[in-house]
Amino acid sequence: MKGKIKMENKDKMCVHIEERREFLKSAGALLGAGLAFTSFSSLLCSCENDQYIFNPPPPPTSIDIDLSKYPNLGADGGAVIDNFSYTVEGKTYTLRLAIARKSSTEYIIVAANCTHQGVPLNLGEPLVCPLHSAKFNLAKDPPGKVAETAGQKVTDLKTYESKVKGGTLIIYV
Ligand code: FES
Repeated sequence: MKGKIKMENKDKMCVHIEERREFLKSAGALLGAGLAFTSFSSLLCSCENDQYIFNPPPPPTSIDIDLSKYPNLGADGGAVIDNFSYTVEGKTYTLRLAIARKSSTEYIIVAANCTHQGVPLNLGEPLVCPLHSAKFNLAKDPPGKVAETAGQKVTDLKTYESKVKGGTLIIYV
């Protein structure tokens, strides 16, 4: 009869409603999982921009520098700044380093790019950023330490261990 539901049909409808409820619950769970996955993937995507996670630095190695090519390092107190390339597993990397001679066997080596925006620093004591004027210790203790922030968000420069062997300065990077 039109407008009324027979008892038998009503039971069938209840079964359908139950099934639909279960379906919605599963769909909700899947949707939740999907959203969680999406958030996780976007997290991964955002990490893709992070070179330290997805483009890890090359394995530790060393750069050998022929000291005779740097006359400025011929006397204590001398300093240079230059780009140094080295190859690991077929890939070439370049580091801009500031090197200061303390003695014939002791050298200070610091990364020579500003920790604010990566701008190459100018040689001096301190090293000076030409863009916003932050300053960093070179040979002055502690090497690489921020000497003046100039109001910028800067951190200390990375420093490197080294040793002298014959006329070669070996820098561990
Ligand atoms: S880039 Fe060096 S202080 Fe801003």
